[in-house]
Amino acid sequence: MKAAFINRHGEPEVLQYGDLPDPVAGPGQVVVDIFAASVNAADWKSRSGDYGQVKFPYVLGRDFSGVVTAVGPGVDDLRIGDEVFAVCEAGQEGAYAEKIAIKAAIVAKKPTSLSHIEATAVALTGLTALSAIEDTLKLKPGETILIQGGAGGVAGLPFNSPSISAPARSPLRARPITPTCAVSAPMRSSTTTNACDFTKVVSNCDAVFDTVDGDVAQRSFAVLKPGGRAAFIASNAQAPQPARGDVTSLRPPVGRARAPLERIAQLVLQGAVRPPEIKLYRLSQAAEAHRVSESRHFRGKLVFQVR
Ligand SMILES: NC(=O)c1ccc[n+]([C@@H]2O[C@H](COP(=O)([O-])OP(=O)(O)OC[C@H]3O[C@@H](n4cnc5c(N)ncnc54)[C@H](OP(=O)(O)O)[C@@H]3O)[C@@H](O)[C@H]2O)c1
Repeated sequence: MKAAFINRHGEPEVLQYGDLPDPVAGPGQVVVDIFAASVNAADWKSRSGDYGQVKFPYVLGRDFSGVVTAVGPGVDDLRIGDEVFAVCEAGQEGAYAEKIAIKAAIVAKKPTSLSHIEATAVALTGLTALSAIEDTLKLKPGETILIQGGAGGVAGLPFNSPSISAPARSPLRARPITPTCAVSAPMRSSTTTNACDFTKVVSNCDAVFDTVDGDVAQRSFAVLKPGGRAAFIASNAQAPQPARGDVTSLRPPVGRARAPLERIAQLVLQGAVRPPEIKLYRLSQAAEAHRVSESRHFRGKLVFQVR
C-alpha cells in the first residue's frame, strides 16, 4: 500500500510518501481501505516526537473513513463492503495510508449520506467535542459556554452548529460564545482585527471549553461565574489548576468507542452539527498539510483524499 510515514522525528520534511506492507486483520480486527483521513493537531506533535519514541517506519494519522476489505477471526458485526469510519485506539496511529488494520469494536458504520471526507473530518474532533461538552462539562440547555480556539478543528465543530443556540434536549445546543480575539483572522470583521483581552469582553460563563492551552487556558478561569467549570483538551494529562477555588477544572478522557461516533454522525445528519470547512490534500502532500496544521491559525479541517 501507499502511505505517508516518517523514519525519524523532526520537521514536516521528514514525512515521506511511499510503499509499505499491507496490514492483515488479526483477531477482532478489520482491514479498512481508507478513502479519506484527516489531519489532527496531534499528528504534528507525534511527528515532532512530543509523544515519545515510536517504531520506524511510522505511519501517522488518527482518524479515517473507508470500506472494510477484510474481517479477522471473531468479528461478526462488520462485513466486507461496509462503509465505516473510526478513530484509532489511543497510542495507535496509521491512518495516513491506503489501508489500516483496526479493532472492529471501535469502528462505526458511516451513513451513506455522509461522504468519507466529511466522516473523517468529524471523527476525532467529534469524539473530543462530545467528550468535553456533553460527558465532562455536562452542559445544559441555555447555559453559556466560551469556546476557545473556535475556528479550529475541535472547537469549530460545536461552534459551527446552526442550532447550537436553540433550546433543545442536546447539551450541544447551549449558547456558545467566542470572543473576537479568539476567532481566526478570516472570521474577524475588518474593524475588529486587533488582538484583545478576552477576559475584558467575556464574563459570567457557566462553562469554558479550551482547545488552545498556555496563557489562554490559564486566563479562561476568569470568565467563569462562581460554580462554573472548564474543560481543557490541549494541556497535559492534568487539567490546569485554577487560582480561584470556586470553579472546577476538568480533563475530558476522550475514549475510543463506536457509540459516540454513531452519535456524532447522527448529529451531522440531523443538522445539529455542521461539518467544518475542509481543505483537501493528497497523501503525497503530507508535509505541506503539516506546515499548515502546525501554523495553528487556519479555519476548519485539513483532509487527505486517499482514493
Ligand atoms: N485530548 C484529546 O484527546 C485531544 C483530541 C483532539 C485535539 N486535542 C488537542 O486540542 C488542540 C486543538 O486541536 P485542533 O485539532 O482543534 O487544532 P487546530 O485545528 O489546529 O485549531 C487550533 C485553533 O486554535 C486557535 N488558536 C491558536 N492560538 C490561539 C491563541 N493564542 N488564542 C486563541 N486561539 C488560538 C486557532 O485560531 P486563531 O487562528 O484564531 O488563532 C485555531 O483555530 C490541540 O492541541 C490538540 O492536540 C486533544
